[in-house]
Amino acid sequence: MMQESELEQQIKNCLTQIDKVFPIQTIINQQVTTNFIRDYHTYSSWGYKYLHSREGSLHLAMNYEGYFTPQGFYEQTRLIHELLSNYSTYTQILELGSGNGFNTIDLAQKNPQRHFTGLDLTPSSLQTARKKSSHLSNVNFKEGDFQSLPFAENSFDVVFEIEALSHANNPEKALSEAYRVLRPNGLLIAIDGFRYPHFDQLPASIQQASQLVEITMAVQQGVKLHEWIQMAKNIGFTVDSTIDYSSFVVPNLIRFRNMAREYFYPTWRGKLLNWLLPAHLSKNAVAGLLIGYTVQAQAQGYFQVILQKK
Ligand SMILES: C[S@@+](CC[C@H](N)C(=O)[O-])C[C@H]1O[C@@H](n2cnc3c(N)ncnc32)[C@H](O)[C@@H]1O
Repeated sequence: MMQESELEQQIKNCLTQIDKVFPIQTIINQQVTTNFIRDYHTYSSWGYKYLHSREGSLHLAMNYEGYFTPQGFYEQTRLIHELLSNYSTYTQILELGSGNGFNTIDLAQKNPQRHFTGLDLTPSSLQTARKKSSHLSNVNFKEGDFQSLPFAENSFDVVFEIEALSHANNPEKALSEAYRVLRPNGLLIAIDGFRYPHFDQLPASIQQASQLVEITMAVQQGVKLHEWIQMAKNIGFTVDSTIDYSSFVVPNLIRFRNMAREYFYPTWRGKLLNWLLPAHLSKNAVAGLLIGYTVQAQAQGYFQVILQKK
């Protein structure tokens, strides 16, 4: 394993390179508002499709074999599907931040006896999701904010989210809304990125790199795993399990880094990308360059947390 000082040095080199292209202070001053998040997902969709996942996944692939394959995009839904098989009476399922419908559609196809609702903020993603699911009778997609859910209380048996709640500018409100719409004994399954509890003790360069990753992915800053879990407990959830899946997203993060390198250390392909990419996606290269290192430094991690409404 690489020494921490070597890792820090690599992060510092990246920060120097990034600062030449996008002044770091300007990125740090950026507020991640709801409009910023919606614009990010609207204008990045083309790049996500051609550079990340043709299948429409907006989340990271989880690859156990140590190298990236697109099959890894289906690992999160495979885990959720496996969990659902223990709850045959749980039929009403809601996905928060359903994006292009990748997860909801995959699960709806595998669970024709259950009904799935996907909720998202971004109209263009909802349009894609509706088009892709037009052949399914057990799916519907709704526009809305997961911090103010347009559903009555006790409407769902399971609420799940994949890399969506990390965008919440009010995580407490998002959790309490999920709690409100769940039936008693209902589950909230979160697969998402969080800061590690010891984040504040890490070197300043690693903390700054993590902050840049969050802003350039339109994610809110500062939520640590244990703080988020405590918020959930205060609302009334009990914690069924917490699993750290960080090592399984590393192959995808290395793929990001290789693409981002072309942007910051341009080859002819990088120059072409610079010219073609929308502004949000170019800034995404900042996250692409850094996130493999911030995860390796255990500043940020990728977790599954299962909560239950008692
Ligand atoms: C990283 S994408 C993940 C999409 C999808 N879960 C997937 O795995 O492909 C995050 C999604 O959350 C949505 N989102 C962000 N903030 C939201 C909010 N406050 N309410 C509803 N959706 C939101 C975005 O529009 C985007 O589609």
